[in-house]
Amino acid sequence: MLAPRRNAQRQMDMAADNQDNIVIIGAGQAAIQAVQSLRAEGFEGPITLIGDEAYAPYQRPPLSKAYLLGQFERARLFLKGDDYYAQAGCELLVNTSARAIHRDVREVELEDGRRIPYGKLLLATGARVRRLKCPGAELPGVHYLKTIADVDGLQAVFTEGKRIAVVGGGYIGLEVAAVAAKRGLKVTVFEAMDRLMARAVSPQLSAFYAAEHEKAGVDLRLKTGVEEIGGHGKVEWVRAGGQTYDADIVLVGIGVVPCEELAREAGLACEDGIVVDQNAMTGDPAIWSAGDCTRHVGREGHAIRLECVQNAIDQAKHAALAMVGKPKTYAEVPWFWSDQYDLKLQIAGLARPTDTLVQRGDPASRKFSVFHLRDGKIAAVEAVNAAPDYLIGKKLIAEGTAVDPARLADTAIKIKEVMG
Ligand code: NAI
Repeated sequence: MLAPRRNAQRQMDMAADNQDNIVIIGAGQAAIQAVQSLRAEGFEGPITLIGDEAYAPYQRPPLSKAYLLGQFERARLFLKGDDYYAQAGCELLVNTSARAIHRDVREVELEDGRRIPYGKLLLATGARVRRLKCPGAELPGVHYLKTIADVDGLQAVFTEGKRIAVVGGGYIGLEVAAVAAKRGLKVTVFEAMDRLMARAVSPQLSAFYAAEHEKAGVDLRLKTGVEEIGGHGKVEWVRAGGQTYDADIVLVGIGVVPCEELAREAGLACEDGIVVDQNAMTGDPAIWSAGDCTRHVGREGHAIRLECVQNAIDQAKHAALAMVGKPKTYAEVPWFWSDQYDLKLQIAGLARPTDTLVQRGDPASRKFSVFHLRDGKIAAVEAVNAAPDYLIGKKLIAEGTAVDPARLADTAIKIKEVMG
């Protein structure tokens, strides 16, 4: 491992080599943000973007929502037009995998043996789906949802009347369940935990979403893991919780794992994510990392790995700033969203089970929020069809303002006046 250098020295070095070429491994949201920010910050050297998918960087959030529903054209997924890359002086290598980083000579080795030298390197490798391990999990008809290719594969069989078994009641599973129900498929969701989206939301929200899915005809099976998938040459049934369910399609959404192997094999610290500091820098002063693949110390002082667009964008911006010698501490409030049916869920901040919960609005109105209070301040907000609660909540989290729980719960007081 290279010895870490002192910050001031690092910054001087960076400013000195503003012409150095930058190589970015991974071609997703964090990568394209870094390209944009590097150019906006005046970086003039060449940039090479290496991606193993067939496409230029695209947005993933619509994949499990409007794109799967058939209401979002493929062309709109792409984060930049085709001509952007040449204009930005960015060489985009698609269908290209990096297989090693040679830190001693600052080179990235590609699958085909080519070596690309770098002055600075950004790892924006993202995360990959966690795969189901039960017998039958490799049968044709078992799908995952992470890429355009995944959705295109699913679309072909995603037709009215088909029976779909969704494994995992998290964001992906539930967004797919909502689209499937809307498109007339028969949906069963198998969730290992005792409530939906347990990793992400409060018990109130879990219960609300369970009721909404059931209203739409989705069969929810909580505390139920899938034991086996079977069929003659393709999926025909799923065994879960000791029962057998007929199924034509299985959609697995049981989380993701960070793509950190390249970093680990190059000797960089990885702990369920590539370890970076608050400037998105790894232990090597020539290598940064941003997005789902990273672990950093968040604004609350704990090491976290965030899987969201916000982190990809903001961490990439900070990486770019640091790369051009203008480091700025990354301490943004994380935010997330999910669209299921006509419900827009917006979340800001990170909740803890010990937070005091304050509900604002009536879930029966399908427009309400749950605020998470810690030490008298808002630590997180979950808003359903309640954008103002989300926006003001996010601002108050960032400011660390104390709130009166009774005023917060009182919908007769406008959210922006809660502080008054
Ligand atoms: P997730 O972590 O949100 O949910 C996975 C769910 O699967 C959890 O509820 C977990 O308890 C359950 N589970 C795990 N193993 C299981 C098993 N063997 N059987 C049954 N249930 C099991 O991950 P998900 O939904 O796969 O999403 C993947 C990634 O995509 C995440 O990074 C997520 O943040 C991101 N994403 C974000 C969205 C958003 O912000 N709206 C929308 C879609 C995806």
